[in-house]
Amino acid sequence: MSDANLAEDFSYAVRLHGEGRYAEAEELYRRLLDRLPDNVNLLVNYGLLLRERQRHAEALAMLRRAVNLSPANHGAWLALGAACESAGRLQDALAAFGRAVTLAPHDPRGWNNQGKALYLLGRTEEALASFQRAVRLRPDYPLALANLGVALHALERFAEAVACLERAAAMQPQDTDVLYNLASALALAGRREDAVARFRQILGLDANHAPARHMLAALTGATPDTAAPRDYVQTVFDQYAARFEAHITGVLGYTAPTALRRLADTIARRRFARAVDLGCGTGLAGLAFRDTVEQLWGVDLSAAMLAEARAKGIYDRLEQEDIVAFLHACRQEAWRFDLLLAADVLIYQGGLEPLFGAAVARLAPDGLFLFSVETLDRHDKGAGFMLRPSGRFAHHPDYVAACACRCGLRVLARRPIRLRKEQGVWLDGLVCALGRASAAIAA
Ligand SMILES: C[S@@+](CC[C@H](N)C(=O)[O-])C[C@H]1O[C@@H](n2cnc3c(N)ncnc32)[C@H](O)[C@@H]1O
Repeated sequence: MSDANLAEDFSYAVRLHGEGRYAEAEELYRRLLDRLPDNVNLLVNYGLLLRERQRHAEALAMLRRAVNLSPANHGAWLALGAACESAGRLQDALAAFGRAVTLAPHDPRGWNNQGKALYLLGRTEEALASFQRAVRLRPDYPLALANLGVALHALERFAEAVACLERAAAMQPQDTDVLYNLASALALAGRREDAVARFRQILGLDANHAPARHMLAALTGATPDTAAPRDYVQTVFDQYAARFEAHITGVLGYTAPTALRRLADTIARRRFARAVDLGCGTGLAGLAFRDTVEQLWGVDLSAAMLAEARAKGIYDRLEQEDIVAFLHACRQEAWRFDLLLAADVLIYQGGLEPLFGAAVARLAPDGLFLFSVETLDRHDKGAGFMLRPSGRFAHHPDYVAACACRCGLRVLARRPIRLRKEQGVWLDGLVCALGRASAAIAA
């Protein structure tokens, strides 16, 4: 290849890459790299392609080589930061974006990307400042506006979040992620009608958008029988994971794990050989029971929540799975549990038969099934359960007991609790202990 051919081939490889023709682009990048092993632009493009193909270790190696060869090249640091973020190495991503903004403080991309890493690390106030800086530098930067909206939402500054997200949506009217964040912020800003219109707009663009369908039902008073869709749960908790504990305990005053532990202790002070924490989240309920359990397993749909739980080092086994599917899968192994725990998780289940039916089949003869619910107001008793505008289900205690009975379980004990706050107001809840209908545990 002559020098002119090299330049032409590089442009062509970049074009193939841009068109998503990854295999052809990679082949060309690889051949070019044989000729130009120290070309930083080539290393950056090839590294980004490897990142897009989820080959994280190779991407990181290539982009580290690029920044070592050209430490003042802020584009290479941006690419390395993006690869670190995709590989789940958020601290390294933050460090790389930090170098990028130091080298090129006038490039809004660095501030936006740094803001995203800070947000994913749960450092929401700092993320907000970083996004604000990006938007000051480029007021028509839709990604930074959308991210700024998400950070404002997380800080419960809903009206400001709406304003940012409306600007982002005006620039990217087909972007269902932006529209979904906007609709959610509108709902929390008290603009129900506008939120409904936006959720409908999303469904017009993508009729299979399960989270929008769920929230539309929640805001229009429809209650499906089925559990909240997986996509919805994953979207909510993957975004929430990093700040979950600080927020739910510090701001919302969450009580379910300790209330469940107290309830278990009033029934019988005992140890459990094998327990599973259903919808374990970051592990708050697991922690409350760890000293009573020999083997503790956790199951959750959200990868980001599971990563936080793993970091606690209290679980013997963690699985990313739907709780009902997990219990059914345990049947094949004939596993039984002495304790099933579900703290603040039935709020994502509609009718409880599928869960109770799966639970009874996996509960040891004298096992306990402990869980909390948000309780339905007395005047809504007839419904049994209801999907609230929050997107969470509330259940009536009589419905819970009747459903347990239909599934071969019985209520051993239950207590009303103040579960957690919503916009500063306590939500009523219930902690409940079920055993097999035939079990001989005293209530
Ligand atoms: C409010 S958090 C509670 C987490 C934890 N139990 C606690 O007490 O801190 C609800 C958790 O349940 C998980 N979740 C909701 N529905 C689920 C399902 N069907 N299968 C598995 N996990 C689910 C969510 O991902 C989230 O981590």
